[in-house]
Amino acid sequence: MSDIERTEFELPADLQPQAAGRRPDAPVSPQAAADEHDVERSLRPKSIEEFIGQPKVREQLSLVLTGAKRRAVTPDHILISGPPGLGKTTMAMIIAQELGTSLRMTSGPALERAGDLAAMLSNIIEGDVLFIDEIHRIARPAEEMLYMAMEDFRIDVIVGKGPGATSIPLDIPPFTLVGATTRAGMLTGPLRDRFGFTAQMEFYDVEDLTRVVTRAARILNVEVSPEAAVEIASRSRGTPRIANRLLRRVRDFADVNADGNITLSEAQGALAVFDVDEMGLDRLDRAVLDALVRGHNGGPVGVNTLAVAVGEEPATVEEVCEPYLVRAGLMARTGRGRVATASAWLHLGLTPPEGTIGLH
Ligand SMILES: Nc1ncnc2c1ncn2[C@@H]1O[C@H](COP(=O)(O)OP(=O)(O)OP(=O)(O)O)[C@@H](O)[C@H]1O
Ligand SMILES: [Mg+2]
Repeated sequence: MSDIERTEFELPADLQPQAAGRRPDAPVSPQAAADEHDVERSLRPKSIEEFIGQPKVREQLSLVLTGAKRRAVTPDHILISGPPGLGKTTMAMIIAQELGTSLRMTSGPALERAGDLAAMLSNIIEGDVLFIDEIHRIARPAEEMLYMAMEDFRIDVIVGKGPGATSIPLDIPPFTLVGATTRAGMLTGPLRDRFGFTAQMEFYDVEDLTRVVTRAARILNVEVSPEAAVEIASRSRGTPRIANRLLRRVRDFADVNADGNITLSEAQGALAVFDVDEMGLDRLDRAVLDALVRGHNGGPVGVNTLAVAVGEEPATVEEVCEPYLVRAGLMARTGRGRVATASAWLHLGLTPPEGTIGLH
């Protein structure tokens, strides 16, 4: 077993999705469910060539990695930003794989004290990739230590307490930090500046998601007709994690209701059972839209108010629901708050009032 697989298998407790306030019960949430890690691991592309979609990120990363390899140096630190389930962790693993080095994984919330980070850094071997998931949630003292480590490959370890405390400088071998975040805007300026390159992951189009579904079906040994693959892809909310998950739900349905082979009618039947609408919106997405349109007459309304209305954390609404609602043209973010577009009213079967954005 390679280092990469071993590290992922032993995902620390604080990296588990429940700890981050995720919603394992939601069938199409873009966030990972608690029991999903093994399946996700088996479906993860292992190289840049295998990674579907994101042509810009792939091209940029190939250049960064190849350039560094040619010059025999460790590549610049890399920030990967984008909504949940688009392949940030997968890409971090691919970076280590392409560099032929090992990946050490941790997460922002796990680095509460500077000592937590010092312990990670002092184990680094030259050329390693240090992956910090949810890097925007790193605590301030650890973040300050990270600045120095990223820039000078050195940290000051404080030994002792109070007036007798001394600081001992410690050299760290050159490494590449890969940070992932769903909220690039929450990163402090100094931290953002220390990354040499930011990979911005975008939602996938239906064509790429169809390839994701077809590839996963092959790995999972499931027969899916081309029309069914397109149907699943077009309801996957632009997100590979959801495409893979819907494929598994549709397979369950086909196992029970048909001979296990997935045709268009099985796909449609299953998606109806699992409450996935034609745009791929899940219950929370629809609840947010409903609160915005019916509850607040289309807005503008603040994200906190919306979050209270749907009984969720504002961060979840902001990081999980809104990016897709905006991208799907259902919601607009304005200086005064969130606003429903004409498409949102129509999606809920209502007539948009005069003056609604997107109304011709
Ligand atoms: N480009 C891709 N091609 C094929 N499969 C992909 C791709 N991107 C992601 N996946 C699949 O989607 C799943 C989720 O990806 P990943 O865990 O990397 O997302 P993430 O961006 O790290 O999500 P989170 O923000 O929740 O941590 C993985 O199991 C992987 O198999
Ligand atoms: Mg991840």
